Amino acid sequence: MTDVVHEPRALREACDQLRASDARVGLVPTMGALHDGHLSLVAATREAGATRVVVSVFVNPTQFGEGEDFDKYPRTLEQDVELCRERGVDLVYAPPVDGMYPEGFETHVEVERTTARFEGAHRPTHFRGVTTVVTKLFNAVGPCVAAFGRKDYQQWRVLWRMARDLDMPVEVLGCPIVREPDGLAMSSRNRYLDAGERQRATAIVQGLRAADAAYRDGEREVARLEALARAPVQADFDRIDYIAVVGAESLEPCTGTAGDDVVVLCAAHLGQTRLIDNARLGRDRL
Ligand code: PAF
Repeated sequence: MTDVVHEPRALREACDQLRASDARVGLVPTMGALHDGHLSLVAATREAGATRVVVSVFVNPTQFGEGEDFDKYPRTLEQDVELCRERGVDLVYAPPVDGMYPEGFETHVEVERTTARFEGAHRPTHFRGVTTVVTKLFNAVGPCVAAFGRKDYQQWRVLWRMARDLDMPVEVLGCPIVREPDGLAMSSRNRYLDAGERQRATAIVQGLRAADAAYRDGEREVARLEALARAPVQADFDRIDYIAVVGAESLEPCTGTAGDDVVVLCAAHLGQTRLIDNARLGRDRL
């Protein structure tokens, strides 16, 4: 049985009850429009020991910049709740905006170094919105474990850093990217693509595969790896925000020779849609 609550107080009461029954609570924060990628996170919290799972569905206005897709972001709560029911989720939390941010709200959480580049540079207020809303969710739910997809690789590292730095008693999991049969990383934003764009969108994973294959063959020159990842995206996308080989933990850009634990991060625009993807070279299945 999946309960759905909308008010912060109802969430807190429900989570207090879950914890009082000795449950290990897992949290999957989402913005809804759920797909198999999100559902794999539900499974991941259970594998990590959660006995009860809470999914939050909240299109968080503070992580969208001016001119971004907040208004058109898909909102499909009924279907989301149904999918959660099918997966045995215990509680869905879907607050209204003024429940999350009541009048007078003025407090934010910021992670500094890990947010400075890449998504943070292209979307300057984005991570502050993410870290603030996730802190609020952690406080209200009190999870032992929370799962995030590695498609948003930098987001995962930022949230991991935040939990570590602020002594939040929660394990922050970064879970493998779930891909469509042709390799496109699952994303709620894929719904924006028309048929032609949907075909061209696979250029990102083609670039990642090319860099990954070269890396597995021993290529370590960063410029060469980046050029391989870039070529198909340059051909099929309209604009590239960044393609960079970085340290998998530090997210510091690599120069010269790539080490043995590196990620290629990529963000690019196809028509009105901005897509991101990444691969941990020599390690991820693409
Ligand atoms: O990854 C997302 O969907 C969002 O950034 C998150 C973590 C749910 C915070 O709003």
